[in-house]
Amino acid sequence: MDFSLSEEHLMIRDAAREFAQNELLPGVIERDEQQHFPKELIKKMGEMGFLGMMAPTEFGGGGMDTISYVLVMEELSKIDASASVIVSVNNSLVNYGLANYGSQAQKEKYLSKLTTGEKLGAFCLSEPEAGSDATSQKTTAIDKGDHYILNGTKNWITNGGSADYYLVIAQTDKEKKHRGINAFIVEKGWEGFEVGPKEQKLGIRGSDTHSLIFNDVKVPKENRIGEDGFGFKFAMKTLSGGRIGIAAQALGIAAGAYELARDYSKVRKAFGTEICNHQAIAFKLADMNVEIEAARHLVMKAAWDKDQGNNYDISSAMAKLYASKVAMDVTVEAVQVHGGNGFVKEYHVERLMRDAKITQIYEGTSEIQKIVISRGLLS
Ligand code: CAA
Ligand code: FAD
Repeated sequence: MDFSLSEEHLMIRDAAREFAQNELLPGVIERDEQQHFPKELIKKMGEMGFLGMMAPTEFGGGGMDTISYVLVMEELSKIDASASVIVSVNNSLVNYGLANYGSQAQKEKYLSKLTTGEKLGAFCLSEPEAGSDATSQKTTAIDKGDHYILNGTKNWITNGGSADYYLVIAQTDKEKKHRGINAFIVEKGWEGFEVGPKEQKLGIRGSDTHSLIFNDVKVPKENRIGEDGFGFKFAMKTLSGGRIGIAAQALGIAAGAYELARDYSKVRKAFGTEICNHQAIAFKLADMNVEIEAARHLVMKAAWDKDQGNNYDISSAMAKLYASKVAMDVTVEAVQVHGGNGFVKEYHVERLMRDAKITQIYEGTSEIQKIVISRGLLS
């Protein structure tokens, strides 16, 4: 067993760390305040290769492994989880879905633009009445021969306003329940496709979350992904990998908060000494570090499983369940270590604490991860 990272992995991690410090840290507080993530930063992430990491080189991707991807996700998330969720959705949901299940024509037309950052993707499964209960799709796509007619509403879609291409899940045959669900590629600007208002959020406020409304949108048949009825399995298979990305995001949020708390404890004085010399604070830092290290092992194991071609449904759910809990626990403690300053925006930890919460909700809540894990263990 070898726990060391290769030279290449270290280089990728360091490049992401430097990018996060130089490009994401400036303005992160303002982006959070204004709920705004500039297109310019998306372009720069594309130039760094962060938007097409694991996709095949033939379609403009980096052809990298999942370990590289989680290293980048962790580094970006230490500074700005709003930036890293953009990277996560584009890589592990949209690109992965197209690269693994799309047709050659779909890959040429769509994937090759998504991998470079020229275009941005969104993944649209959730609806007002179908979140955890994802098979209860109300959005319909009616087969009209050479095209489908799409109607319905999707909720809370990340990159909802800024994406160009949307992978949309819809019910094509209600009688067949989840086996009558399909996934489609929909382009922004098609007639009848409307982007709803931006959500006002607690955390990841720099990311762009919208509802989407489809009103008789004509979707060419060649834009269906995979065989008829493959849509729900497509969503589930894609989400298994997506959960590794969110687990790495949670890990990064925790690690970022820990580093800030550690550094602060070495300079802040109380009762005549740096606060790290009070055992209550030193033990908090020790506990935080143990939790982060345990989360990192689960995240790496899930990424390794995926790279080895092993089944990763359970390991990705475990990584997300645990790392997201660690993100919450550690960020709360990081605020505590900062005292009053922890409550103030300029010290960053209050934002990380707010950002941590979403990792327990999206791409399957913690309760849903427990369903996936327990069903997997008992089957
Ligand atoms: N791979 C392949 N197929 C799978 C699968 C997997 N990992 N998991 C389930 N399936 C298949 C099952 O085999 C079954 O098909 P068959 O009947 O043909 O065998 C079918 O899917 C239905 O499975 P279940 O009976 O287990 O379905 P369920 O209704 O009990 O739901 C669930 C299962 C795991 C709870 C699922 O609904 C789920 O994952 N819910 C959470 C949804 C979610 O994660 N949404 C995230 C939206 S994207 C997002 O959030 C992005 C972001 O924020 C950035
Ligand atoms: P519900 O399903 O209504 O759940 C409410 C509560 O009940 C939760 O605690 C849940 O765990 C619990 N619960 C539900 N069923 C069970 C059960 N069987 N057993 C035990 N507990 C249960 N979706 C997308 O498709 N694409 C995106 O890009 C996307 N981005 C998002 C970004 C943000 C900021 C947010 C907030 C959400 C995003 N989502 C996205 C939606 C997200 O995936 C859902 O919010 C999530 O899956 C939970 O669904 P819900 O909100 O409907 O909660």
